[in-house]
Amino acid sequence: MIKANNVCVHFPKEQGNFIFRKEYQQILHDVSFTVEKGECLGILGESGSGKSTLGRVMCSLLKPFKGSMEIDGLDLYNSKESLAPGTLAVVFQDYTTSVNTRFTVRDIINESFIVLKRRTGETIDVNAECIKLLELVGLNEDFLYRYPHQLSGGQLQRVCIARAIAVKPQIILFDEAISSLDAHTQVQIMDLLKEIKAMYGFTYVFITHDLPSVTYLCDRVLFLYKGVVEEILPVAQISEAKSEYAQKLLHSILDIKHN
Ligand SMILES: Nc1ncnc2c1ncn2[C@@H]1O[C@H](COP(=O)(O)OP(=O)(O)O)[C@@H](O)[C@H]1O
Ligand SMILES: [Mg+2]
Repeated sequence: MIKANNVCVHFPKEQGNFIFRKEYQQILHDVSFTVEKGECLGILGESGSGKSTLGRVMCSLLKPFKGSMEIDGLDLYNSKESLAPGTLAVVFQDYTTSVNTRFTVRDIINESFIVLKRRTGETIDVNAECIKLLELVGLNEDFLYRYPHQLSGGQLQRVCIARAIAVKPQIILFDEAISSLDAHTQVQIMDLLKEIKAMYGFTYVFITHDLPSVTYLCDRVLFLYKGVVEEILPVAQISEAKSEYAQKLLHSILDIKHN
């Protein structure tokens, strides 16, 4: 479903006075991994490790200077075709800036229906379908005409999840999507994500800096450290992680539990 082959990304450094010599800082170093259909891969790394950059490569937003990213058999940056719109949906951490504050909940979800209609040509009863989706994410039709500022963080993130599902994607990418919610809401949302995944057979990529959420939700985990894939292993075997960074993370959690 997803295949990353030696993805390398760099950004130009601040130029200063050296107009003729362009210097680059490499952010991702030969990142390779695969995600099977229906799987949930956790990408775990500390802030600045390159997780969102990798997410942007997966979303066709950032061409790697070396390597390739394939989704559903299509090489995103080396093919004449482009991925059908809505194949991959994204839910970001910052739910407040990922919605238009002047849109109602109905308008927000309808953005996806517009993409879906373009892709499939199907006709959609927007109100009825919005209500179905709102109920699926634990809200109801009373929310249809509310604006983002009239919702709690958890409610707004549920709307963002509804918008992601509305486009009928194959893959949903979550970039720190639950990180800024309180612990109780995080668990509620993760339970919701599990339920939805079982219903629709989605493939998930779950980017986070939080190890417990990975163990709760994901099938496998990729440890990303300073733009390098340190280790990829099934979550059930996470305690057997060998890389230094993975062990440090595991110990930090065990220390908290011991104290
Ligand atoms: N467009 C950009 N131009 C220059 N540097 C960038 C750009 N985007 C990200 N970076 C740098 O790449 C590194 C990784 O960033 P990011 O992928 O956002 O990390 P993470 O999501 O793991 O916190 C950071 O040092 C960041 O400053
Ligand atoms: Mg990030």
